[in-house]
Amino acid sequence: MKRDFLHVTDFSTDEILETFALAKEVKERFRRREHYKPFDGRTMAMIFAKPSARTRISFETGFFRLGGHALYLGPEDISLGTREAVKDIARVMARYNDVIMARVFAHDHVLKLAHYASVPVVNGLTDYNHPCQIMADTFTILEHRGHLDDLKIVYVGDGNNIVHSWLRMAQRLPLHFVCACPENYQPDAETVALTREAGFSEIEISHDPSSAVKGADIVYTDVWASMGQKEEAEQRKIDFQGFQVDDLLMEATGKPSLFMHCLPVERGLETTDSVVESKASIVFDQAENRMHAQNGILLKLFSKL
Ligand code: CP
Ligand code: NVA
Repeated sequence: MKRDFLHVTDFSTDEILETFALAKEVKERFRRREHYKPFDGRTMAMIFAKPSARTRISFETGFFRLGGHALYLGPEDISLGTREAVKDIARVMARYNDVIMARVFAHDHVLKLAHYASVPVVNGLTDYNHPCQIMADTFTILEHRGHLDDLKIVYVGDGNNIVHSWLRMAQRLPLHFVCACPENYQPDAETVALTREAGFSEIEISHDPSSAVKGADIVYTDVWASMGQKEEAEQRKIDFQGFQVDDLLMEATGKPSLFMHCLPVERGLETTDSVVESKASIVFDQAENRMHAQNGILLKLFSKL
């Protein structure tokens, strides 16, 4: 049976921890410039319905360095769901490629791709979630702290795809996760409820960033207007007043917290240049670890074939 990676919860707790071990191993092999080519002769098709820097570069570079070949297919190449039905492109691509990575708008598109493709499908972001990002982020936290115990993560901003993947991570690892967002920008209620029911983690929704960040190990933020919402950007600038992660908010944690952002960042909106450039900021470690975490995920999926 082929495996897909569409949600953090597609992996068990053990599989997530094993993926981090694989990511660490591949990262060390890269550092030592070892000749390690487990994907020799394999090809990965990458469908992008939205723009990307990190996802495209980290998947393409990472897969190549492990011996494989990755193809970039932009919005004009495929036109998923308009030029061709998702269920058709899924089966066509599976005839040529060993794995499909997709960044799409509708979450349903990635579910359909996985359903119809006979090869593994990896989710490179949808309107609903961004599981590879949160795998890389958790791996980055593990590297910085040496463990994942007693971890308080406070996300400040829009209750978006990043938050949904953090909530799903909280269904697998015990976290104290707080989402501090304006009333009208809360994460998906069903995902919040499922996470609470899983009983692993403490989940809070707050509308007061300064009190929410108290005792945070990690302060995380993301853009106020995600891809596909850019026409709402001006309204969102008004609605998110008071939700900027600035130096004062970082100080309000009362401890030496780390600052995280999936990038790209809009300096002056969800956070400031000063916070991004501060010693607390680990945003570029996160970006680098996208490649290592994704290689870990791909190795895990292939080992199951
Ligand atoms: N963080 C992230 O996914 O970046 P891109 O949108 O540039 O791929
Ligand atoms: N929430 C952002 C994440 C970008 C990596 C978006 O969907 O645009």
